[in-house]
Amino acid sequence: MEVFDKASQLLEEIKNTEISSPESLEQFRIKFLGSKSILKDLFGEIKSVPNELKKEFGQRINAVKQAAEEKFQLLKEQFESQTQQSDVSELDLTRPGYSHAIGSRHPVRLVMEEMVEIFKRIGFVVEEDREIEDDWHNFSALNLPEDHPARDMQDTFYISLDPATVLRTHTSSVQVRVMDRQKPPIRILSPGKVFRNETISARSHCFFHQVEGLYVDENVSFADLLQTLQFFAAEFFGSDTKIKVRPSYFPFTEPSAEVDVSCFLCHGEGCNVCKHTGWVEILGCGMVDPKVLENCKIDSKRYSGFAFGVGVERIALMKYGIKDIRVLSENDVRFLSHFKSVVVG
Ligand code: PHE
Repeated sequence: MEVFDKASQLLEEIKNTEISSPESLEQFRIKFLGSKSILKDLFGEIKSVPNELKKEFGQRINAVKQAAEEKFQLLKEQFESQTQQSDVSELDLTRPGYSHAIGSRHPVRLVMEEMVEIFKRIGFVVEEDREIEDDWHNFSALNLPEDHPARDMQDTFYISLDPATVLRTHTSSVQVRVMDRQKPPIRILSPGKVFRNETISARSHCFFHQVEGLYVDENVSFADLLQTLQFFAAEFFGSDTKIKVRPSYFPFTEPSAEVDVSCFLCHGEGCNVCKHTGWVEILGCGMVDPKVLENCKIDSKRYSGFAFGVGVERIALMKYGIKDIRVLSENDVRFLSHFKSVVVG
């Protein structure tokens, strides 16, 4: 029958059609699979097919349609993967790359790293320890027994209801930890975060950082302490920096002192940073109280030592001319990005 022949011809045509581009594939689709395709026309002719052959005719046309669909699908996938490959080959490798935002080191970290760097040069090594401390290491071993009035100097955060566990109020606790596990000579620097229950304002915060120094050996004297601090001040603030030592009190050092440096901004002329005095206070220090050495099982007749503690934020504020301590913990990237170009070392 003629319609059967037509179906066979179409099948041949489908097999033989050359398709070399997405455009010719589209023409193929319209011709054989579109809403007005010749296959549809052929289907329409089923009316003229005698009933007993209708089923076979239907199957034949379906086979033709399926052949068209399969060819279409196969070529479509081929063209798609070619397009992807040609996308890759069109990559322009000479184009500038996407830039990534680079972080910057935090001013507190910068100051701490610079201090560590200076003290390393004269033999100090870094020791770090826990921020949650027990009463012994934060207070009692440092000659601050429970009823000692000097405990009020440091407004303490207690952990839950347990009065024996505190957030360390100073890094002097690391002194005790190190003297517990190490015998002299000891020459350490302990940078770290400390906590005090103080009202937050432009000048003070409830957490900040300290760098504590400790040197214990035979014949360590107050003169050694002064030499060490003078060296630090000259390295950190500039070679013409002078230090001034004022008597003070800390329970764990005897004698104790507070140290000022000549103002690195106005060099003594008077400015806002030194409040027109020519001097800025930078640290507390003293000779380790023999009682503290004994508490850590170090023979205080044979050994002596000095210790000092520096408030890092105070120095960062002065050094970078920052007026409000709170910006140091707010992590505002607009502020932090100012420090991108600062290189340590
Ligand atoms: N721990 C003292 C403070 O937090 C500082 C200090 C350290 C003083 C070591 C003397 C010796 O204020």
